[in-house]
Amino acid sequence: MPGLSDATRRRILFGGDYNPEQWPEETWPEDVRLMKTAGVNSVTLGVFSWSKLEPRPGVHDFGWLDRLMDLLHEGGIGVVLATPTASPPPWLGHLHPDTLPRDADGRTEWWGGRQHFSHSSTAYRRHAAAITEALAARYGGHPALTMWHINNEYCTYDHGDEAATRFRRWLRDRYGTLDALNTAWGTAFWSQGYGDWAEVVPPRRAHYLRNPTQVLDFRRFTSDMLLECCTAERDIVRRHTPHIPVTTNFMPLWSGQDAWRWAEEEDVVSVDLYPDPRDPFGAQEGALVQDMTRSQARGPWMLMEQAAGAVNWRGVNHPKPRGLNRLWSLQAVARGADAVCYFQWRQSRQGAEKFHSGMVSHAGERGRTYQEVKQLGADLARIAPHVTGGAVAADVAVLHDWHSWWAGDQEARPSREVDYPDVLRAWHRALWQAGLTTDFARPDHDLTGYRLVVVPQLYLLTDAAVDNLVAHVRGGATLVCGFLTGVADQDDRIRPGAMDVRLRELFGIRTLHEWWPLRPGERAECEGGLRGTLWSEELEPDGTADETIAYRGGELDGLPAVLRKGRAWYLSTLPEPDRLRALLARAAADAGVRPVLDGLPDGVEAVRRGDLLFLLNHGREPVTVDLPGTHHDLLTQTTATDRITLGRYGAAVLKP
Ligand code: GAL
Repeated sequence: MPGLSDATRRRILFGGDYNPEQWPEETWPEDVRLMKTAGVNSVTLGVFSWSKLEPRPGVHDFGWLDRLMDLLHEGGIGVVLATPTASPPPWLGHLHPDTLPRDADGRTEWWGGRQHFSHSSTAYRRHAAAITEALAARYGGHPALTMWHINNEYCTYDHGDEAATRFRRWLRDRYGTLDALNTAWGTAFWSQGYGDWAEVVPPRRAHYLRNPTQVLDFRRFTSDMLLECCTAERDIVRRHTPHIPVTTNFMPLWSGQDAWRWAEEEDVVSVDLYPDPRDPFGAQEGALVQDMTRSQARGPWMLMEQAAGAVNWRGVNHPKPRGLNRLWSLQAVARGADAVCYFQWRQSRQGAEKFHSGMVSHAGERGRTYQEVKQLGADLARIAPHVTGGAVAADVAVLHDWHSWWAGDQEARPSREVDYPDVLRAWHRALWQAGLTTDFARPDHDLTGYRLVVVPQLYLLTDAAVDNLVAHVRGGATLVCGFLTGVADQDDRIRPGAMDVRLRELFGIRTLHEWWPLRPGERAECEGGLRGTLWSEELEPDGTADETIAYRGGELDGLPAVLRKGRAWYLSTLPEPDRLRALLARAAADAGVRPVLDGLPDGVEAVRRGDLLFLLNHGREPVTVDLPGTHHDLLTQTTATDRITLGRYGAAVLKP
């Protein structure tokens, strides 16, 4: 099976989405000149080129792409060639209105934007396969081709009639009989019993709350249908070029795809990452997505898209201040990326993204953005031979699962204030601040090697996952578990006692009497000055815990907010950030897990990749970091002994 190393060949892939069809052909040689000057060695072509490649049904125009592929090859620039199936040409929707997706309210999504395709449409799938086949046949042997990029950010939904047909088929495969479906969905509630498969529909607009398991299954189904579209195209290109790796780019922490499952089907895992330059936690957001992507890839991964400057889709879009683009790119490399790429090469002059930055901005070659890109290209070339292929060391696993997210994030629950991604962020950020490098894992993955496992929140846990966690603790690992975990089974059926009994025994809880969610801004005061946010619980301990921190005041006065029984911790609230960090640092220390470096100044990130130590200063002020012994900084080619000073947004890549 080919992998990322087949495309990188000891280089860090550096480049971005290139949409030359938006520009007169005279621009192309100039693009290649600027690319070469900046050290760009890879571009992604054709992501949205379907109507250029197939202007009329079955009529192809490859001349322009032939010339481009040749030009790029002559310039020594490799091509990640995309199947253009994320944005069908207007003729497809016009000819086959059934290719257009419908939302839960029955409204059609029309062409004129992008991603207006139904994953369930047979006509869409047929036409997508045909253009993929044509591309693979034509360019499979081209020397510029280094990787295939399938579609773009699969993220569509469809509640239409073809989707309904496929949903029924999917449910038959899952449940076999209607009886089993009725049991899983709990259709005794509100007279929802199904007597004929034809009665089953996607969760369309309803008068009042919809069946939660129907919604959960529809999310599972949607992820599976999109994956079917993706693997169908993958199989076509693989048939032509078994030696060329295949990827599809994920959106970061996106709810629509079970990315654990998807990653298994890819040769290269890639992600698009756009933290807000004005977000004080932008670096932590980046670290989270990078850790998750590396864990899905089980090794080096590809940063497929980031912005060289501003995006165009937030309320207020700030550019990156000087140095930030380089810092965040090096952060991705530190956390396992062997490719640093952008959306997009040249900033558009027309279309919906003309205010979105590019590596070459409207200011052109003299613009600060391009000048900084050029500097980054040189930095990456300098470190590439030492870093590519290197593994990132992590003793901590954060558990995350899409099915649990889908089940927990529904209508009519105890509190709408609980936002799963935000809970995940809070925990990962606390670990980041404690200087601990983390992997992510699925609750049923093999957790061997992780001395500390944390579960920010897994509302739904299968029996196998519960057994896995319990066995891991029994095997000597430490587990720290957040509230609202182990509540439901795989069908979103509340477990007896509202928390799996095996987990209650693990933590020393006899009875979970009630959940007491907190209002925004409300705090649950606890012993020792700990203050809980978002949530609290009325727990009756069984007397076996070794340590507890109790609620103070209010209805829960004296009841445990935090319990520790041996190596298993349960947090029935979300402690304020400093306390969460202290608690996780303590659990890590007890588990024998050490931070990457002791005594790091605030805002400085340290990550080990292979034998390299990356130091990243996310602050705007210079800082001095104490170092063990003498290191060589690959970026500046200087030697540092005992300490090193990093400037504003400064970085060092140190070799012992
Ligand atoms: C991504 C997408 C790109 C571009 C970019 C803008 O989601 O894949 O095509 O739209 O966002 O930030």
